[in-house]
Amino acid sequence: MKTAFLILISATLAYTSQVQLKEGITPQRLPPVDISNNIVPSSNYDIEDIRFSGITANVTEYAYKILENIRTLIIRGGLDPLQLSPQYVSLFPVGYMNLTDGWVQDLSTITFSDSVIATYSVDTNILALTLPIEFETLLINYDYHTVITLLSFTGTCDAEISKVKLNLHLGFNFTDFHAFVDKADVKDSGNIIIKFTGLGLLDWIIDAMSDAALLLFHGVILSIVDLFIDKPVDDFVNQLNALIDEILNSTKTTVF
Ligand SMILES: *[C@@H]1O[C@H](CO)[C@@H](O)[C@H](O)[C@H]1NC(C)=O
Ligand SMILES: *[C@@H]1O[C@H](CO)[C@@H](O)[C@H](O)[C@H]1NC(C)=O
Ligand SMILES: *[C@@H]1O[C@H](CO)[C@@H](O)[C@H](O)[C@H]1NC(C)=O
Ligand SMILES: *[C@@H]1O[C@H](CO)[C@@H](O)[C@H](O)[C@H]1NC(C)=O
Repeated sequence: MKTAFLILISATLAYTSQVQLKEGITPQRLPPVDISNNIVPSSNYDIEDIRFSGITANVTEYAYKILENIRTLIIRGGLDPLQLSPQYVSLFPVGYMNLTDGWVQDLSTITFSDSVIATYSVDTNILALTLPIEFETLLINYDYHTVITLLSFTGTCDAEISKVKLNLHLGFNFTDFHAFVDKADVKDSGNIIIKFTGLGLLDWIIDAMSDAALLLFHGVILSIVDLFIDKPVDDFVNQLNALIDEILNSTKTTVF
C-alpha cells in the first residue's frame, strides 16, 4: 500500500500550540528517531493472508468499548502528551537544524476508521482481528535552531498531522489460548501541515527545513506506532481475551 503524505507548508509568526501537561502524569519520551533508513513506511503484511475461509463476526461495538479503555491508558501511561527527543538533522544542500523541546499531542484521539471484523478459522483455530486505527489529529511541536553557513535562525516548528491510519493485527490461538499482536502497518501516514515561526527565513531555507522536518515527523509517526504496540497493548490483549471469549461463545451458539 502506498502512503499519502501530503504537505502544506507555511512560514508564519501567528501561533504556536501550547502543550497541555496533565497533572500527576509524567510524560514518556520517545527515543530519537533514526531517519537515515526510514523513508517509506514498511507495509510488509498482507491482510489477505489471514482472510481464510472461516466465521466472521462484526465486533465493532465491542471494539469501541475496548477503545475507551485504550484512550484512558494512553493518557495515564504518559503518552498524551508524549515528549520527543532532541534531534539533529542535516539540511540539503547545506547546514543543519537542531530540534529541541519536542512534543506530540493528541494520541488519545485514537478511533477506528472502519468496521472491526473478527475472522475465526476452523482449520487453524486462530481468531484474527484487524483494528483499523486512526488518529484524527496529531500535533507535533519543536523549537528549532537552524545553522546555514554563517546564518543562524531560531523559532518554533508546529506540525498538524491528520488522519494517520494504521492496521493493528491481533490474533488469538484457540489451540493454546494465547492472544498475540501480530503486526501493525501504517496504511496512510496522513496529511501534514508544517508551520515555522522565525525571523528572516528565506524560501529556500524553509524548503530545506520542511523537507528535513517531513522526513523526521514521518519517522516519529512510525516510532509512535511501535511504542503504542509496546505499551498499551498488553492490557489491550488481556481485554481482547475476554472479548474473544464472548464472541466465540456467541459464534458457537449461532453457527455450530
Ligand atoms: C546542534 O546539535 C549538535 C549535536 O548535538 C551540536 O553539536 C551543536 O552544537 C548544536 N548546534 C546548535 C546551534 O545548537
Ligand atoms: C458493523 O457494525 C457496526 C455497528 O454495530 C455498523 O455500523 C457497521 O456497518 C457494521 N459493518 C459491517 C461491515 O457490517
Ligand atoms: C497455535 O498454538 C499451537 C499450540 O501452541 C501451535 O502448535 C500452533 O502452531 C499455533 N498456531 C499458530 C498459527 O501460531
Ligand atoms: C464462554 O464459554 C465458556 C465455556 O463454556 C465460559 O467459561 C465463559 O464464561 C463464557 N464466556 C462468556 C463471556 O459468556
